[in-house]
Amino acid sequence: MIAPSILAADFGNMQRDVEMLNKSEADWIHVDIMDGLFVPNISYGFPVLEAVKNVAQKPLDVHLMIVDPDRYLKEFSEKGADGITVHFEACTHLHRTVQAIKELGCRAGVALNPHTPVAFLDDIIEDLDLVLIMSVNPGFGGQKFISNTYKKLKDLKTLSASRNPNLFIEVDGGVGEQNAGKLVEGGANVLVAGNSVFSAADQLLAIKNLKNSK
Ligand code: DX5
Ligand code: ZN
Repeated sequence: MIAPSILAADFGNMQRDVEMLNKSEADWIHVDIMDGLFVPNISYGFPVLEAVKNVAQKPLDVHLMIVDPDRYLKEFSEKGADGITVHFEACTHLHRTVQAIKELGCRAGVALNPHTPVAFLDDIIEDLDLVLIMSVNPGFGGQKFISNTYKKLKDLKTLSASRNPNLFIEVDGGVGEQNAGKLVEGGANVLVAGNSVFSAADQLLAIKNLKNSK
């Protein structure tokens, strides 16, 4: 599945860009929320999420790069999140947070920073709907893909195969046509793509090519 990240959209033409995604082969719309504390950048919050929800015809895959996300889970769900992914590094009581996301009726995801081992999920893997492997340090679009991601994908694939075979395995950061095939081969089943989609001359074609990558 392909989840284009609207962090790379033209914010002055957000409706146009979301309508493009509606027409595209994208499966989810990835929404990056940054608080300037967990990551050194601030993106957008509830009003933008609501505006996107009003136009979007695809599920919103909300990636929270914020400290103590428990404070805002309910509001993200009410404002249109279909899936909510929190950072392992931002949650003191991750099990509680994951249960809270599920109780809101949302798909529950956990993201791992590049330095966080997959093995840290060993005692919670069965509770998760999705694991997001960050393939760049979170905070900015357009960064260079970190190749240790392939090793982490392998670890996650092994962990999920026996304990949670339906897990969504999402890779986020520096994904494009040059590495999509290898990521899918390595076990990824959801690819997030920001710049490689929105900076393409033909965005619909860029999504189509990602979708067909093997
Ligand atoms: C980075 C975000 C990503 C970002 C990806 O912190 O989590 O979702 O939008 O952008 P690209 O695909 O440009 O690396
Ligand atoms: Zn993201």
